[in-house]
Amino acid sequence: MKKENSDDTSSDDGKPNKRIQNRKTETAVTPAKETKADTYAEWDSKETILAVKTALEQYHNVTLIEANEEACRKICEVKPEIVFNIAEGLRGPSREAQIPALLEMLGIPYTGSDPLTLGLCLDKSRAKEILAYHKIPTPKFFVIEKESHIKSLALTLPAIVKPLYEGSSKGIYDASVVKNTGDLEKQIKKVLKEYDQPALVEEFLTGREFTVAMLGNDGDLQILPIVEICFDSLPDGVNPIYSYEAKWIWDTVENPIDVHECPAKIVPELKQKIEKICQNTYKTLKCRDWCRIDIRLDGSGEPHVLELNPLPGILPNPEEHSCFPQAARAAGLDYPSLINAVLNAAIKRYGLN
Ligand SMILES: Nc1ncnc2c1ncn2[C@@H]1O[C@H](COP(=O)(O)OP(=O)(O)O)[C@@H](O)[C@H]1O
Ligand SMILES: [Mg+2]
Repeated sequence: MKKENSDDTSSDDGKPNKRIQNRKTETAVTPAKETKADTYAEWDSKETILAVKTALEQYHNVTLIEANEEACRKICEVKPEIVFNIAEGLRGPSREAQIPALLEMLGIPYTGSDPLTLGLCLDKSRAKEILAYHKIPTPKFFVIEKESHIKSLALTLPAIVKPLYEGSSKGIYDASVVKNTGDLEKQIKKVLKEYDQPALVEEFLTGREFTVAMLGNDGDLQILPIVEICFDSLPDGVNPIYSYEAKWIWDTVENPIDVHECPAKIVPELKQKIEKICQNTYKTLKCRDWCRIDIRLDGSGEPHVLELNPLPGILPNPEEHSCFPQAARAAGLDYPSLINAVLNAAIKRYGLN
C-alpha cells in the first residue's frame, strides 16, 4: 500500500524555532511578503516527515510526495491506495483543504478530515460560528477586517488578538493579550498589516487550559488522556497563554520547560464535561480519524472551545513536547502506533480492510 506525505526534506534555513520547521522547497513556497520569525511555524520538519514514513513502513510501502504545485502529477504517477495526509497546503485560508480536495477529485482515500472541515477549522471564526449555533461554549469574539472597524468594537477587556487563519501560535505573542484600548488597537493593526488577514478579537478566558487529542470515528472514537497547559512553568511576569514564545522560543531541547501535564490532574466531573464538549465538537465539525481540541476554562471554571486542530502537530521527539504524541504515549501508544492508528481509522472508515 502506498502512502504519501512529502518528498522534500529541505533545511531549516533562517528559522529561529527549536525544531526544523520546513518541509517545502524554497521555490514552492517563497513567500511574496517579508519572512517573519514565525513564517514557517506550521510546517512539519524533516524529522517529523521521516518519523511518519518510518512508522507507516512497519506495515506498508510508502512514497513521499511534496504538497506543492507538482502534487497532482506525482499523485497520478504514484497512484497511492491511500494517502497519509499531513499537508499544510501552500497558501490562503483554505490551504489545508487543497490536497484533500485534489485527492477527492482523483477518488483517492486519505487520512483525516475532508476539505470542508479543514477549511472551516483554519478560519477560527467560521468554526466558532458553527459551535455557537450548536450551543457549544466558545469565547465571545469579533472579526476585524479593516482598521476603520476598530472604533465600533464593543468588548470588555482583557481580550486576545489573533490572526484569523493561523495555527501553531503563529501571530500569538505575549503582547497579544490586551488590557487597554491602546494596546487592543495596536495589536489589531499589527495582525492586519503583518499577517495580511483579519484579526480575531476574543474575550480572554482566565482559567486553566487543556488540549484534548481524539482518535477514530463514530463508535470507535477514543479520547486520549487530557493534556493540561501549565502556565506556572512559563517565565515570571508573562501572560498565561500558550504563545509563540512559549511553544517555540522559551522551550528548547537544550533548556526545556515542559508546560504539559498529562494526564491532567482534574476532578472526574470536569473531565467528563470537557470530554463531552470535545465529543460534540468533533461530531459537529464532522472531524475524521483524528483531531486535537483546545479547551480553556472561564473565570467560573466552565470549559470553552478555543479551536480545533484537525491536522494536529506530531513532533516525534518526546523532548519537543508535542501534545498529540504526548497524549498518545500516556495512553500506551508510541509514535509508530499513533501514526498507524490514524491510518487504520481511515482504512476502516473507507471499508478498505
Ligand atoms: N480566548 C482566549 N482566552 C484565553 N487564552 C486564549 C484565548 N485564545 C487563545 N488563547 C491562548 O493562546 C493560545 C493559542 O491560541 P489558539 O487559538 O489555540 O491558536 P493556535 O491555532 O495558534 O494554537 C492558546 O493555547 C491559549 O493559551
Ligand atoms: Mg491552539
